[in-house]
Amino acid sequence: MTKTAFITGITGQDGSYLAELLLRKGYEVHGLIRRASTFNTSRIDHLYEDPHDRGVKMFLHYGDLSDGSRLAGLLAEINPDEVYNLAAQSHVRVSFDEPEHTGDVTGLGTTRMLEAVRRAGIDTRIYQASTSEMFGASPPPQAEDTPFYPRSPYGAAKVYSYWMTRNYREAYGMYAVNGILFNHESPRRGETFVTRKITRAVARIQAGTQHELYLGNLDAIRDWGYAPEYVEGMWRSLQADAPTDYVLATGVGITVEEFLAGAFEAAGLDWHNHVKFDERYLRPTEVDALIGDASKAERELGWKATVHGPELARLMVESDIQELAHEGRPWHDSVSLASWEA
Ligand code: NAP
Ligand code: GDD
Repeated sequence: MTKTAFITGITGQDGSYLAELLLRKGYEVHGLIRRASTFNTSRIDHLYEDPHDRGVKMFLHYGDLSDGSRLAGLLAEINPDEVYNLAAQSHVRVSFDEPEHTGDVTGLGTTRMLEAVRRAGIDTRIYQASTSEMFGASPPPQAEDTPFYPRSPYGAAKVYSYWMTRNYREAYGMYAVNGILFNHESPRRGETFVTRKITRAVARIQAGTQHELYLGNLDAIRDWGYAPEYVEGMWRSLQADAPTDYVLATGVGITVEEFLAGAFEAAGLDWHNHVKFDERYLRPTEVDALIGDASKAERELGWKATVHGPELARLMVESDIQELAHEGRPWHDSVSLASWEA
């Protein structure tokens, strides 16, 4: 029997890798996309199939997490076996500029999804994209039972979503799971997150089209993993017999400065010659150190991250150098996902 999945945030980094993974597993994949005046589907264009063709396995639907009635209609119509709620205003710095919008989409949007499933009365497993940002000021290592102490409107909105997901599980017996994911990156990472901002700059500096890179706090510690491995963990967390929450992380923390040094070294450059400080990239409250303990996921799901830190920096730099050399090259060529088939 073909399984059906519904992915919100399918145009994002994780959504695009997850769609690839599920299509490889034989799922029929439905994705929610926002109407925009310019195309916003570049991460999934290589997966697109003309709906007039036979045997089409991926379908896109216009909608928005702020529109509950649309979500309810789609959920009832599609009746998916699995829902992956990945859509969010996901940028921590931007959440300080747009706290209300972030609360509406990243927080209430989750409730709209949960309620849409509940009211449709369908038997669906739900994955909620929770985050290590919920731990905020709680010192590492952080695991499933570490207290939350969010330090941004984004973190606070995700804590609300986390508890709503648990509440729907406990109140209505729904199969609803929080994946508490630590930072994960890739060549498809949004260009304003620090890793991709750095690796794109390295490629341009090497090519001579950029000379300086402006950054904020270099002392923050993050546990950076590789996104294709994390979407595999998302899928596995919905295959368990009973619903429960999982941390996914590498367990290795490095500073922004260490990632920076590794990325510049990968191109034979010294970051000291190019990086400048700009206070506009500081946050009113910072999360100093996130290092995850993913032993529950390893024990129960057999999931373990293998790529981190300097290797990740090298992989992203190489991809950005290639992308600059071949503008327009489709992203799916940039990394091999074969090793992450389950
Ligand atoms: P991303 O690249 O920023 O993608 C976010 C997705 O959400 C995009 O598809 C975006 O659509 C969509 N979206 C934004 N606002 C929406 C709205 N109002 N209605 C419907 N869709 C909307 O994020 P990501 O890195 O793939 O992360 C996926 C999820 O995991 C997010 O919820 C994020 O908060 C969470 N998370 C990420 C990490 C990480 O390190 N990457 C770690 C922990 C948790 P457009 O393309 O149209 O903008
Ligand atoms: N974005 C950005 N830009 N961050 C910078 C910069 C800069 O110029 N300079 C220093 N940083 C520091 C930030 O202050 C932060 O400490 C760290 O780099 C990482 O920032 P981001 O890459 O923006 O990621 P994040 O950790 O804030 O949030 C990401 O990971 C979360 C999981 O922990 C996002 O993907 C969230 O959606 C996700 O939940």
